[in-house]
Amino acid sequence: MTTSYDVIIVGGGVIGSSIAFHLAKKKRKVLLVEKDRIGCEASSAAAGMLGAQAEITEAGPLYDMAQTSRSLFPAISEELKECSGIDIHLVRKGLLKVARSEDEGNELKRLISFYQKQGQRAEWLSIEELIEKEPNLSRDLAGAMYLPDDGHVLAPELTFAFARAASILGVCLREYTTTTGVIIQNDRIIGIETNVGNFYSDTVVVTSGVWSGMLLQQTGLHLPLYPVKGECFSLLYSASPITATVISEGCYIVPKQRGRLIVGATMAEGQYDKKVTLKGIRDLLTISETILPNIVEGEWEKAWAGLRPQTPDGLPYMGKHPEIEGLFIAAGHFRNGILLSPITGRWMTELIEGERQEETLQPFRVDRYSKTLITR
Ligand code: FAD
Ligand code: GLY
Repeated sequence: MTTSYDVIIVGGGVIGSSIAFHLAKKKRKVLLVEKDRIGCEASSAAAGMLGAQAEITEAGPLYDMAQTSRSLFPAISEELKECSGIDIHLVRKGLLKVARSEDEGNELKRLISFYQKQGQRAEWLSIEELIEKEPNLSRDLAGAMYLPDDGHVLAPELTFAFARAASILGVCLREYTTTTGVIIQNDRIIGIETNVGNFYSDTVVVTSGVWSGMLLQQTGLHLPLYPVKGECFSLLYSASPITATVISEGCYIVPKQRGRLIVGATMAEGQYDKKVTLKGIRDLLTISETILPNIVEGEWEKAWAGLRPQTPDGLPYMGKHPEIEGLFIAAGHFRNGILLSPITGRWMTELIEGERQEETLQPFRVDRYSKTLITR
């Protein structure tokens, strides 16, 4: 069994899989280890929205990163289809953020002017214009903000496509392989310990989602990450009752292929369990019915939950370990890991290859909570 690699990646979610794909394109010999199945955690639970505007409502590094990543999707979708045979079903039919009151409408109008100042497309739709666009939405709404450039993909397919394309390009994928520790010699990474033995490399990337901080405790790095459980359900219709994604306070409805709707998602902080509760489903159904009254006519498909990896300031961690040479981290993409996966894969690969200066990722530094660094 080969045990030496150019790069080892720990965690087969969308972030680890994207980095594996980008490194494989550089012809690096890569091992990706996943404790369970590829994409089995947050990355398969996601609704797949590319909400670069809808979900990020203030200027800053995350906003810029999200815009750039969204713009990569048309090309990455083609590339992944060609390389892996998997269609990630990129849909670019825009997103409607609906207002249920005049106050919510005024807040959305403020956001519209913010986006327009940023050079992005955004427009206000009166209730008449909204109903003309989406006739099944409730006439009790106060209007909506229309974001034509926010789209969506199938999140599990995106993760599998990155992983399969990486594998076709030579990456070794090892599922059911749990990393129990990193191996360090003279402040340099030399490999990882797993339940099936040790693997060696002078470059290790931790992409273990909400579990990344636990794995790195051994290195003395304090990397705060908190789970925020999200529950979703899906419904089937003979024809989709909406064409664009619809978001409201506390709920979103995403129209997928063949008349399928995903309704999400609850926000339960600090919960590591992935149980779906009746309360969660009831809360989502209550809100979604006020937006789309005939949603209740859908056929029940299924419900699920996943754990979003949240950081204290809402920014992901991307960069080098401050003390251990060769150890890299990309985690904490919270509500936007699907959207941010192409750019994360590209930037982390450039950093690992020495093609990108660490300073360019300054806002995402992994040691920004380093005042709480503990001694190894
Ligand atoms: P994960 O997908 O959690 O992957 C980490 C992987 O590491 C897991 O597979 C895990 O098994 C593995 N692992 C952990 N520890 C170890 C170990 N010791 N050894 C080996 N492997 C290990 N984002 C969007 O952009 N758009 C959306 O619409 C969207 N909707 C969402 C809806 C819900 C309900 C949820 C929960 C999330 C949503 N997100 C969305 C957020 C997105 O899913 C996450 O940000 C993203 O999936 C994080 O990816 P990741 O690879 O960092 O983590
Ligand atoms: N981005 C959607 C969610 O986190 O639920």
